[in-house]
Amino acid sequence: MTVSTVERLNPFIPEVIQDPYTFYRRYRELDPVHWGLAANPRLSGSWYLFRYQDVMQVLESPKFGREAAKVRDDGEGAPVPPAYRGFRTVVNNWMVFRDPPDHTRLRSLVNKVFSPKMIENIRPVIFDIADSLLDQVQANGQMDLVDDFAFPLPVMVIATMLGVDPQDRPLFREWALALQHASASRLTPSPEVYAKAEQATWGFIEYFKQVIVQRHSEPRQDLITALVKAQDEGDKLSDEEVLATCIHLLTAGHETTINLISKGTLALLRNPDALKLLRSHPELITGAVEELIRYDSPVQMVTRWAFADFEIGSKLIRRGDSVGLILGSANRDPARFVNPDVLDIQRQDNKHCGFGSGIHFCLGSALARAEAQIALNVLLNRLPELRLLDDKVEWANNIVFHGPKHLHLGFREPV
Ligand code: HEM
Repeated sequence: MTVSTVERLNPFIPEVIQDPYTFYRRYRELDPVHWGLAANPRLSGSWYLFRYQDVMQVLESPKFGREAAKVRDDGEGAPVPPAYRGFRTVVNNWMVFRDPPDHTRLRSLVNKVFSPKMIENIRPVIFDIADSLLDQVQANGQMDLVDDFAFPLPVMVIATMLGVDPQDRPLFREWALALQHASASRLTPSPEVYAKAEQATWGFIEYFKQVIVQRHSEPRQDLITALVKAQDEGDKLSDEEVLATCIHLLTAGHETTINLISKGTLALLRNPDALKLLRSHPELITGAVEELIRYDSPVQMVTRWAFADFEIGSKLIRRGDSVGLILGSANRDPARFVNPDVLDIQRQDNKHCGFGSGIHFCLGSALARAEAQIALNVLLNRLPELRLLDDKVEWANNIVFHGPKHLHLGFREPV
């Protein structure tokens, strides 16, 4: 192993979270396959990969996977400690934490029901939700984009798709947030955070159990019915797995989409030429959303475990090592993207890895794209003279699901 020329990086500290791209550039240039500090203090370290080519290679290689127990016998790397039984069981049934063959089985069922047709049908619903949220911010000329718009939108959309009754949605928001806090952070969550997640999990379990039973006998036009129907038709999925999948869909698409809408708006406001172009050509929104995902990726990092020794960039990654793939850095790699630090909403050749790649490629990417395209166009269309009220952004303490805590915006009265 060659000796690193830079200090060991801890990507979970506030300095990195506030300005990740400065750190990424430094490590991409000086030590792109870097043995840094791990989020879990019981691990001696973790690899971090900063270059597009390396990140893509690992994402697409079967020599790396999600189930730590296959290569470690110290119990480290499990997504949730055993004490939190409900939460642990549910998370263990999330496809994102599974390798084939379980991953293949879990994913194929959801793939079947999460169809392009379903996404097309949901577009008018997304539009109505976005519109009604902006109706509520009303005439005071100010809003917190995160709390008033970006946060409620995705949870309302997925709750509608699942078939959750509208009056139960606030409860869903609360539970989803508790799970998100515990499962999204790569810092080891505190016992309080886990306890809240455990409680929320049981809330979800009780809720979905009833709904699943109901849908078996009284089918409706919703995602839960589709999952239950696929199950009835012989797909090998237990009730427990269907239930965990419902919770997974709800949480996986939550923080991610919030951050895309809020950081996307922030990037546009900080790049007035791009904003002006998009306002006058709303049909550019498809490419604009891709560029916003590349430019400031909502998911900055995903993690893998090495299932075999693997050499990359003259470093030897050993079987059992943890590897952090810095998507946010890969998407700014000048070896892959022309002028990577420039926001160019008309960028051609934009095959970013903001939704990952390989077998875990984001299952909700079509929905996320639709939500962001509609949300941003409605926002720009409805709120003239949109502006940042405070240029100093306070970031949530999370480098994985990276986004602002709040985003205070001013605008002229809505039309
Ligand atoms: C997986 C990003 C929205 C459901 C992933 C992965 C990324 C990602 C990077 C790969 C994780 C890995 O390789 O370890 C995003 C971003 C989103 C978004 C940036 C929004 C801007 C959504 C939505 C849903 C969703 C709306 C569903 C409602 C999933 C699921 C997986 C996944 C189920 C796991 C797929 C698998 O393991 O096969 N997402 N996501 N995502 N995403 Fe998303």
